[in-house]
Amino acid sequence: MDGNGRWACARGLPRAAGHRRGADAVRRAVRAAPALKITILTLYAFSSDNWRRPPGEVAALLCLFRDYLQSERSRLRQSGVRLSVMGRRDRLTVDLIEAIEACEADTAEGTVLHLRVAIDYSGRDAILRAAESLPLGFEPTRDTFRERLALTCGAGAAADVDLLIRTGGERRLSDFLLWESAYAELCFLPCPWPDFRASDLAAAVAEFRTRQRRFGALAPERSALEMA
Ligand code: IPE
Ligand code: MG
Repeated sequence: MDGNGRWACARGLPRAAGHRRGADAVRRAVRAAPALKITILTLYAFSSDNWRRPPGEVAALLCLFRDYLQSERSRLRQSGVRLSVMGRRDRLTVDLIEAIEACEADTAEGTVLHLRVAIDYSGRDAILRAAESLPLGFEPTRDTFRERLALTCGAGAAADVDLLIRTGGERRLSDFLLWESAYAELCFLPCPWPDFRASDLAAAVAEFRTRQRRFGALAPERSALEMA
């Protein structure tokens, strides 16, 4: 979710105003996801490198996450959304940790959509933590390591990323779900996150459905030809 700050600056508003409008875009995306057959939606809300921002902006973001979790909790539960937060918790404020735990507990039974919010998340750190957690002498496979990674980063369940959307015009991953995105289809959109509509999500999913995913193999028709 990128481009909140630029959205605000372009309107002469403080960056925090862009983040607040970004929360509205989150509500729209979460509401639109189930009809698009999205079952897991992971939002990159705060990267472990975002601590390098001015303390005032960091504080505003942490307050916004807490307010979002508190105000959306019952709505998420009612609409069958299960919420999990991925990332480190030891550097978060106590009130945010409480809001996370309450929201996770309240929505644990949700089966319509698994909404994962990455806060103080780093893909590289997540891989490191998973590796550190392996029992001595244990030789992981891709599958067992994926399980371990999901467990240690709080992902809820191991899942590869199918479609990765980044708004705001930059074309990079910025340390997001590195292992899980090995074969993700990438979609970079110029629109800043506060302007992201349900129709943008629908268009990205529609485009994703046209992509041929081969995972290193040949296209099915090509394979059949070679075999003949
Ligand atoms: C993304 O918007 C939101 C967070 C990182 C929390 P930015 O704050 O990065 O917005 P720009 O990139 O400065 O426009
Ligand atoms: Mg940015």
